[in-house]
Amino acid sequence: MPTELIVAVDVPDLAQASRVLDRLADSVRWFKVGLQLFTAAGPAVLREIRSRGGKVFLDLKFHDIPNTVAGAAESAAALGVEMFNVHASGGEAMMRAAMEGGAKAPGARPLVIAVTILTSQPATEADVLKLARSAKTSGLDGVVCSAREAVALKRELGADFKLVCPGIRPAWSEKGDQNRIVTPCDAVKAGADYIVVGRPILAAPNPAEAAKRVIEEMKTGS
Ligand code: C5P
Repeated sequence: MPTELIVAVDVPDLAQASRVLDRLADSVRWFKVGLQLFTAAGPAVLREIRSRGGKVFLDLKFHDIPNTVAGAAESAAALGVEMFNVHASGGEAMMRAAMEGGAKAPGARPLVIAVTILTSQPATEADVLKLARSAKTSGLDGVVCSAREAVALKRELGADFKLVCPGIRPAWSEKGDQNRIVTPCDAVKAGADYIVVGRPILAAPNPAEAAKRVIEEMKTGS
């Protein structure tokens, strides 16, 4: 499957999210809703995405006791999201509970993705790999990782284990606070299944144009 672009809708409220979606829904299929926007706008924002034909990655990084995460996963699945995530550090019982909750989806089961170690925390490659292995053992569909880790992770965990890669910067955009950035083209070459792009698109003078440029760049890497 070709690499998909996921746009991170990192805005504070529903009105701003709707404006972003109006601009991007023609060219972009996937949107990521994180803690800030979901806390402010709730499921209404998911309906805004779906009504424009978009798919949702609900980025709430569940991390709690297995019973609670199973319930949260079931709720996410009931909202019809196509992807959600949990912290691998919550343990294998918690990750299996997330899979069981997700499987109660009325439609197709959402992809369940693990966060290994937040990039704000110190970690060795061995730590990341250990948690990614544990996610695979627990039946999860993939992990969030830097595109720089993609080749090694695909080699260790297999081609079917999905890699969702943030930290993407086209050559023409500001680096911002992201370190260890990778271009859309190089992320595709490295084997990313999904790239997550926020500010290079949202903060561009013309977000729709910026999204199209990213999509064009992705094609040059495949
Ligand atoms: O604006 P930018 O392209 O940096 O947005 C990247 C998105 O991916 C943000 O929503 C950020 O929270 C998320 N993310 C990240 N790095 C990680 C995990 C998630 O940038 N390691």
